[in-house]
Amino acid sequence: MAELTVDIAGIRLQNPFILASGIWGETGATLARALRAGAGAVVTKSIGLEPRAGYPNPTIVEVPCGFVNAMGLPNPGIEAYKEELEEALKPGKPVVGSIFGANASEFTSLARKMESFGVHALELNLSCPHAKGYGAQLGQDPDITKKITASVKAAVRIPVVVKLTPNVSSIATIGKAAESGGADAIAAINTLKGMTIDLELGRPVLSHGTGGYSGPGIKPVGVACVYDLFEAVKIPIIGMGGISTGEDAAEYLLAGATALQVGSVVYKKRDRTFTHLSRELSHFLSSHHYKSARALTGKAHGRS
Ligand code: SIN
Repeated sequence: MAELTVDIAGIRLQNPFILASGIWGETGATLARALRAGAGAVVTKSIGLEPRAGYPNPTIVEVPCGFVNAMGLPNPGIEAYKEELEEALKPGKPVVGSIFGANASEFTSLARKMESFGVHALELNLSCPHAKGYGAQLGQDPDITKKITASVKAAVRIPVVVKLTPNVSSIATIGKAAESGGADAIAAINTLKGMTIDLELGRPVLSHGTGGYSGPGIKPVGVACVYDLFEAVKIPIIGMGGISTGEDAAEYLLAGATALQVGSVVYKKRDRTFTHLSRELSHFLSSHHYKSARALTGKAHGRS
């Protein structure tokens, strides 16, 4: 059997598959469920300083090869999230706290709180494609990315992952900015900005109009971003975007990912997601004579 264990920013995962932010992440019970169902780690829903209702429905629509969603960063606020984390931490596996803020000071307060609640790492959401004043509106600027990352790094001891948007002209530039701010790892990619229009109503389907496109349709974009980032930075990369089979996972590892996040596939495979992906990746590794998932990272760059 090939070895699936990976280490990312000093955290050991039983397998490379991490539940992405926004999927089952509003309650601790569902995060714990994903961990018990075999996830290597989970990322919480992005949490802000205050409770936020998010956008009115419809907030998600299925499209060919994936979904377009615009939830509007709904969350109960950092104080109320403490009890969800108590539940999420019960299986004793890594939990990553995702946070979003409007500036370095908000990110830093949230980071301190999340750390005090016992999460193993932080993920900075600098990539939501449609929330005014948050997410990609900050993370499309390398100086802001560096400033927020450095401010959070100076305030906490746990590893800091920066989640990047593909909606930029050069993701490598933003990755380098995160690295120079002290990021321990990069997660790439968040969703692509997208929209779908109801032909009968003649109006966008989602209440917010635009949203983020995820699922198998974005996999080639994600793989290219990970490939470019691997050339540009030395810190590890968590690859994501359209992974739904073990072979998709292998492709991301070959492009340069050390670990992987999965989101849209969970809507289809539910609790079976992590055991299926682990089994399929393991089969790919054995049938291609690789001893471990680690052995695949960056191989597509032809350096060794
Ligand atoms: C949302 O809450 O609308 C999505 C968040 C994200 O894309 O980061």
